[in-house]
Amino acid sequence: MTTNLISQQYQMQLQIKPGQSIQGTYQTPADKSISHRALIFGAIAAGNTVIDNLLVSDDVERTQQALQALGIQIETRQHQTVVHGLAGFNFQPQHSLTRLNLGNSGTTARLLMGLLAKQPHTIQLSGDLSLNQRPMARVISPLTTMGMRAEYLADHGMLPLQILPTTQLRGIKYTLPVASAQLKSALILGALQADAPSHFRQPAVSRDHTEKMLWQFGGCSNLHVEGNLLTVSPLQRPLQAQHVVVPGDPSSAAFLISAALLLPGSQLLVENQSLNETRTGFLRLVQQLAPQAIEVSVSRDDTAGEPRGDILVKHAHQQLPAFQINGRLLGCLIDEIPILSLLATQCQGTTIIREATELRYKETDRLHVITTELTKLGAIIREQPDGLIIEGPTKLHASDDEATVSAHADHRIAMMLVIAAILSGQHFSIEGLDSIAISNPTFITDLQQLLRVESQWDQL
Ligand code: S3P
Repeated sequence: MTTNLISQQYQMQLQIKPGQSIQGTYQTPADKSISHRALIFGAIAAGNTVIDNLLVSDDVERTQQALQALGIQIETRQHQTVVHGLAGFNFQPQHSLTRLNLGNSGTTARLLMGLLAKQPHTIQLSGDLSLNQRPMARVISPLTTMGMRAEYLADHGMLPLQILPTTQLRGIKYTLPVASAQLKSALILGALQADAPSHFRQPAVSRDHTEKMLWQFGGCSNLHVEGNLLTVSPLQRPLQAQHVVVPGDPSSAAFLISAALLLPGSQLLVENQSLNETRTGFLRLVQQLAPQAIEVSVSRDDTAGEPRGDILVKHAHQQLPAFQINGRLLGCLIDEIPILSLLATQCQGTTIIREATELRYKETDRLHVITTELTKLGAIIREQPDGLIIEGPTKLHASDDEATVSAHADHRIAMMLVIAAILSGQHFSIEGLDSIAISNPTFITDLQQLLRVESQWDQL
């Protein structure tokens, strides 16, 4: 069987044999969230921060280019990236009006808002069509309460917007309306520049890479965390440059772990993956579903303040049961919902995903796109206002009139559909694969190696 993978300029026939398995060792691409933050903390620290294994992807390049346009020197030497830090927030943009195009990267956009909240410069932020439709008021509104000045240039609450010169920020007390690490990180970066401590309460756990990195860069006394309450004190002296080694991204590994669990004969060793507790929701869930199939060995090296380890995954050998996800678990596996939805189509029973409205504000409205695209493949999914109900197991296949599914330019939907194609062993075409470069540019080649298939991209 062949699956037709289509990007804007290329097309690939992925040959899938019956009984296809996944075998080998997978060096998961570097973590996207940690990569953005390593560049940002490197930019404000005193000295040269050396980053090993920075993710090379469209989103991370946006952060790197934005920092360079703000006057930060960044060099790439073989596998290391060196950021020459400013010892503060005194950015020196090359132009009097700086325009930063952030592409598809929500993390870049939101973290920069906090980073640039107190500047003597005017800085415009804009993104691609998808990013310009994502909510930004959740970040701008508390930052303006702190004293930042900003102006929306098109629709209220959306990019493009401009940050106006501001000389002072106040400390505030604020309860975040959503458990968002991007929002929390922007507030921490703003609060480090304020004139008094700030107190933030988050409604539930979200990834804590910013907190860990602030501590690693010497800001131990600037951040106190107690449960869901964060107290951030202004920086009195610069953070110190560090050596950051970026671990593998759990959200990227989840696609291949799922495939290995489901394809008979599979055995996959995922090396050097981040085991940060705020990111291991997917791993903990699949361990519950198939305890015999997954072994985790924690590495003793936790460079970058981030725990890491290896994961051995074997085919599950048993019918996986359906599962439930609600708001408490969501923050630890938010980016894994597309692949977990696909997994649910292969599980026995009714999977219920609730309290997940945030999924509607990602690169696409993921609740809607998952439903439409997997339904085209025969999955039984009901979209709910705040989640999904998925019945399984179903045999995935494309009917003749729906033989093309679309990633809607969303990288995690694209990768989920490629895994759906492999599971189904059926012929269909997937459009919009360019988006995979946003987080995981080597995904298709890694997959070909682990599937032991040879195919090449042909120009359209
Ligand atoms: C991210 C946080 C999450 C996640 C995104 C990356 C980050 O978004 O979905 O892919 O690096 O902080 P929210 O914080 O908006 O939930």
